[in-house]
Amino acid sequence: MDTRNEIIMSVSNLTKKYKEIKAVNNLSFDVRKGEIFGFLGPNGAGKTTTINMISGLIKPDMGDIMINGESIRNQNSKAKQMIGLCPQNITVWESLTCIEQLEFMGEMYDVDRKKSRKQGLELLEALELLEKKDKFANTLSGGMLRRQYCACIGTSTRNSYSRRATSRS
Ligand SMILES: Nc1ncnc2c1ncn2[C@@H]1O[C@H](COP(=O)(O)OP(=O)(O)OP(=O)(O)O)[C@@H](O)[C@H]1O
Ligand SMILES: [Mg+2]
Repeated sequence: MDTRNEIIMSVSNLTKKYKEIKAVNNLSFDVRKGEIFGFLGPNGAGKTTTINMISGLIKPDMGDIMINGESIRNQNSKAKQMIGLCPQNITVWESLTCIEQLEFMGEMYDVDRKKSRKQGLELLEALELLEKKDKFANTLSGGMLRRQYCACIGTSTRNSYSRRATSRS
């Protein structure tokens, strides 16, 4: 089944005020599976405030965000496990190579080392970083570093899913 048209994230009537400043005013949009969605606007338009609401860092005054059918507003929501944020300023473990970072992430999610390495290599390949697997992360270019960080996010979201699957079985 082709799932590319499915809505993976739905933002509806999102509003946030900081005292008298209306930072985000009744914002609605959908993002579909596999879509690369650009979110552009002038300085002060409310982009960071929106991203902070999507990632659960701050609460909206009004409106909702659904991630794969789960509301971010719901206290016990799985929505936060399904999203990852690659921030402007990235912190990586400088003494670990690219693959070691992913193995370490796996370890934090109780994934056994063999599986963790296999998963890490798959992620590096998907993000076109395989040739850098044994290089220290601080030797990567800015764009490569962001892709490495996305691989770390991939490790955490994948293993949150499998944990959920395990806890349900
Ligand atoms: N913590 C805060 N307290 C008060 N006002 C804030 C706060 N954060 C943002 N604002 C205000 O909300 C509005 C939106 O800011 P926001 O940081 O979301 O914009 P942005 O689109 O990310 O801008 P930029 O392109 O400059 O990063 C601005 O007027 C800003 O001054
Ligand atoms: Mg901003």
